[in-house]
Amino acid sequence: MTQWSPNSWRSKPIQQVPSYPDGAALDAVEKQLATYPPLVFAGEARKLKKQLAAVANGEAFLLQGGDCAESFAEHGADNIRDFFRVFLQMSVVLTFAGSQPVVKVGRIAGQFAKPRSSDIEAKDGVSLPSYRGDIINGIDFDEKSRIPDPARQEMAYRQSAATLNLLRAFAQGGYASLENVHKWMLGFVSSSPQGARYEALANRITETINFMSAIGITSESNYSLRETDFYTSHEALLLGYEEALTRVDSTSGDWYATSGHMIWIGDRTRQPDHAHVEYCRGIKNPLGLKCGPSLTADGLLELIDKLNPENEAGRLTLIARFGYDKVEDHLPQLVRAVKKEGRKVVWSCDPMHGNTITAAGYKTRPFERILREVQSFFEVHRAEGTHPGGIHVEMTGKNVTECTGGARAITAEELHDRYHTHCDPRLNADQAIELAFLVSDLLNKSTVSPPEKQAVSA
Ligand code: PEP
Ligand code: CO
Repeated sequence: MTQWSPNSWRSKPIQQVPSYPDGAALDAVEKQLATYPPLVFAGEARKLKKQLAAVANGEAFLLQGGDCAESFAEHGADNIRDFFRVFLQMSVVLTFAGSQPVVKVGRIAGQFAKPRSSDIEAKDGVSLPSYRGDIINGIDFDEKSRIPDPARQEMAYRQSAATLNLLRAFAQGGYASLENVHKWMLGFVSSSPQGARYEALANRITETINFMSAIGITSESNYSLRETDFYTSHEALLLGYEEALTRVDSTSGDWYATSGHMIWIGDRTRQPDHAHVEYCRGIKNPLGLKCGPSLTADGLLELIDKLNPENEAGRLTLIARFGYDKVEDHLPQLVRAVKKEGRKVVWSCDPMHGNTITAAGYKTRPFERILREVQSFFEVHRAEGTHPGGIHVEMTGKNVTECTGGARAITAEELHDRYHTHCDPRLNADQAIELAFLVSDLLNKSTVSPPEKQAVSA
């Protein structure tokens, strides 16, 4: 393979690039960003990779989730806190049900750039460039907002830093203690219309916590009940921004993306000889790769060769996003090919991006289809003897009305009520916790033993 450098992607074909009208201004911002402190450290990315290696080996479960697109408008402490709270509740349910550690990775503190299926958005006879995320242009449907503005990259960097700062405080300052999270979860169970379904599991967690406390294991005496590891992730779409934050780790001499702990390649930008794959292959962070219906088994193996040539467990997470009615047609052949070639990967399920429909004029996702995709994902893995390693969801801690269904059955007619997303429809707080309870059922039934530890075939 040819020599890699943080800017070697620039000589490759590239998809989904914004057209900045002022190239000099863009250069100046990228140069400035390159002088700023890293947002995350290489050692943290390595720690996450180790935890993901446990997932690849069938010994842990990955929970990844957050906004489809973070926005400048929704940058408040309440939003971050509410997201974190719901995310932790989901993770406690999944930890207990699976009797396995849950690796917690937010789509947060950097999830700003969006790939679009069309460069143009047309409304009432007016055509404008599509919105590409707050790091690139503005969401308002007027000419000025839609012009890509490089100054937005600095705003996104600063917002990411502030968000990460608060998340680190929450994760380590006692807010995330098991007793707190459990109390919030009991609140959810008692107020959910279908709470009775979840009571048995909640009661078992209560008993376990009481038992641990009786023998002296409390959050005061044990830091692992008081603190949690929480990591950040985003799609590495805007490569000029990523390049500016790519740094050499002084301990290992390796290159790391310091914009987030884990970055992923989107379904629209995974061409093996194009820019996004080129950039990602050279950095040492854990990587995600979205796998949609157009990916063949050979295509996947080619990408794995490029992105994880040393077959390192924890390096690569394959995020399957087929649609509830397509999983069974596409996933088995990919899982089989990866298994046959002895490639060590994490298999995760994104039940959101293949299940978007329009109802009452809104982009939405029916909760039942989301659940169905996760169920099929588990079934395929059970049949193939592989580990259903995680889920990847778009969610918020707020009580929005963006996805239909769930225990509080949101109808298409109600979507307009609190539809706030800047891009795709997210699960609201109740739907997200409910999904965790429903997935916990699948984990309970998951009787597959961990995959055989295969020999490294480098
Ligand atoms: C996303 O995760 O927001 C996204 C755009 O996904 P995909 O690349 O799978 O379509
Ligand atoms: Co999305």
